[in-house]
Amino acid sequence: MEDMTFVLFGATGDLAKRKIYPALYNLYVEGKMPESISVIGLGRTELTNEDLQAQVEEALNEFSRRDVQSENIQEFLSKFRYFIFDAMKEESYDRLRKYIEDRESELGIPDNRLFYLSVAPRLVEMITTQLDKSGVSRTNGWRRLIVEKPFGSDLESARELNACLKQVFDEEEIYRIDHYLGKPMVQNLESLIRPNPILKALWDHDQIANVQITASETVGVGSRASYYDKAGAIKDMVQNHLLQLVMMTAVHHEKKLSPKQTEEKKREIMESLQPVEPENLSTHVIRGQYEEGELSGEAVPAYRDESGVTEGSNNDTFFAAKLCIDNEYWRGIPFYIRTGKRMNEKSTRIVIEFKKDTDDAGIVSNLLVIQVNPDESISLRVNMKDNSTDQFEPQYISFSDNSSTQPEAYERLLYDGMVGNSTYFAHWHEVELSWEWVQPILDAFEQDEVPLHFYPAGSKGPSASHELLEKDGFEWN
Ligand code: BG6
Repeated sequence: MEDMTFVLFGATGDLAKRKIYPALYNLYVEGKMPESISVIGLGRTELTNEDLQAQVEEALNEFSRRDVQSENIQEFLSKFRYFIFDAMKEESYDRLRKYIEDRESELGIPDNRLFYLSVAPRLVEMITTQLDKSGVSRTNGWRRLIVEKPFGSDLESARELNACLKQVFDEEEIYRIDHYLGKPMVQNLESLIRPNPILKALWDHDQIANVQITASETVGVGSRASYYDKAGAIKDMVQNHLLQLVMMTAVHHEKKLSPKQTEEKKREIMESLQPVEPENLSTHVIRGQYEEGELSGEAVPAYRDESGVTEGSNNDTFFAAKLCIDNEYWRGIPFYIRTGKRMNEKSTRIVIEFKKDTDDAGIVSNLLVIQVNPDESISLRVNMKDNSTDQFEPQYISFSDNSSTQPEAYERLLYDGMVGNSTYFAHWHEVELSWEWVQPILDAFEQDEVPLHFYPAGSKGPSASHELLEKDGFEWN
């Protein structure tokens, strides 16, 4: 890997502490870091290099999957420098350029620069523009920009944001993070199917009855009401994570795909995704919100009673929909997606339900269950005869790998960003097409054209989401 400077905007933020520092440390321990790297953490607070290094160490102790090792921690921390930076002030950028250049000369490294924007979305455009204006991003070596979600707050703002980034960086240099794409099971989808002809042969509409993608959470809105009450599940989870899971599941992996081919295939899927017709909005899309209820034996308040939520808010904390991909593989096979806060369990999974070819009593359809989160496993539901009762019983053949040696999503994504592999990042056309699919639904929510279904906290979501599948003769698995 080439030597580089890693410029982190938002070095004292929550994401840096929980995800970015642990990811860097684990990469370092595994020898997946450049020989020489300058990590420059930017923030407005007045801190010294030693203060930042102490914060990084504290973050590692709290959040790293691997224990901090006394023999290497000092060397790791010595790569970090703190730079006081105010994104609103032009002079900050000139000072930053000089600071990065000085450090590059000191370490004798080329001007390869990776800019990681872990900042409030409103700052992204300004920082990018200023990086260019001040010359910070004009390098002889490579430069890349990693941007966190949300990428825009609707179709129009996403396009504006992209146009702004494109004035400075080429698409190949922009790495839009969707941490679901870093999850091992999502990345394994390709290697699950391609080398297994048995699965490849089953992967189409002759064999599959439907696909179900669930991302349920037990947490509520927490302290994020000011953001979430405007975003709702549709912007927070569906436009990005869930549609990415749809794409990753629907892509056909006949052969190993290059990053460019993956991008094209995902784009094709999104182009084949049918928009929800206005007359189907209230039947194919379910909008829900949690009421008070109970979770792990504790009473929890209704969404509308959570601190920071607007009085009488109609915001969606639950979303489910039926999607149709009109291409040769998936025509006629419904994809059902759902996500919700304050549900009965934390679970992200992709379930492929196969067609049954008999209605014999007790026989259930075969299911391939890809458990993405929090545990990782693959299981296949089969019908087995219990010889003592002579009845068929569903049984699961399962494989799981929950060892702590598995790199976390951010480790994989940061590594890819450092080596310049954009396969598991969200490319612009996918993002734009996702917003295009979501936008009419957002508008309908805005106009209150889609009913709001309430569900008790701790439940499996509104009954309307179960009816969505029942109408087609299925049920959520
Ligand atoms: C984030 C959302 O992107 O993903 C959160 O903003 C959500 O609201 C989180 O809780 C879920 O991620 P994970 O990895 O826990 O499934």
